[in-house]
Amino acid sequence: MDNSNCIYQGLCRHECPSTCIQWVEMKYMLKHSNIPKAKQCVHRLKPKECDIPAFERLSSIQMDIENFVDNGGVLYIYSKQCGNGKTTWSIKMLLQYFNEVWDGNGLHTRGIFVNVPSFIMKCKSVISTPDDEFEELRSHLDTVDLVVFDDVSAIGKVSGFDYTSLYGHIDSRCLQGKAMIFTGNHTPEQLNEILGDRLASRICQGINIELKGGDMRSWCKSNY
Ligand SMILES: Nc1ncnc2c1ncn2[C@@H]1O[C@H](COP(=O)(O)OP(=O)(O)O)[C@@H](O)[C@H]1O
Ligand SMILES: [Mg+2]
Repeated sequence: MDNSNCIYQGLCRHECPSTCIQWVEMKYMLKHSNIPKAKQCVHRLKPKECDIPAFERLSSIQMDIENFVDNGGVLYIYSKQCGNGKTTWSIKMLLQYFNEVWDGNGLHTRGIFVNVPSFIMKCKSVISTPDDEFEELRSHLDTVDLVVFDDVSAIGKVSGFDYTSLYGHIDSRCLQGKAMIFTGNHTPEQLNEILGDRLASRICQGINIELKGGDMRSWCKSNY
């Protein structure tokens, strides 16, 4: 069995068995999660001074992620700045959830990552170019335990087809009381303007956490 890209490398205290059930189960959830390959690893984030309280709140949600999901939690992580960890935090939450539920999971998809602008583009392109893998992913969006809707406001003012593609899934999850994590570059008030109150009120109905620190992309590149 190939354990070379196991996400527990350097963290796991057990000797690597030839068949590791934990890694088999995790690999299945990761494969069906739509999390970009490069992000399927443990991320270490260092908060800027101004973001310490926000990081503490995010960390406590992460540590209690099973409860958050079981209670149909809704979290919106937002910032006017780019590159300060919104997407990374949302993926940390998904990975933590997978880590809590892998034992005995079998072949079940438990969480999905959706980059909203790419998702909407794909919804359009599959009309003329069918894609079974995408349809499979889309078919799980209303039912899996946790969905991350990343960059939810990057599409600008939405209407028509774009609106329906997105609203249908978010509303369906709301009606079923299913957990969601959103990230975006707009305040809850601005979301009202951009997405309209029906979508905005569903996105901001739970915990809203703002990150205020600047872009950490270059810091990250020069420290690894
Ligand atoms: N606080 C931080 N500490 C370390 N690296 C960070 C931090 N915030 C962001 N990064 C890194 O910067 C890059 C962009 O982060 P990302 O989460 O995609 O930003 P955002 O979604 O807020 O635009 C990633 O490689 C991420 O790991
Ligand atoms: Mg992002």
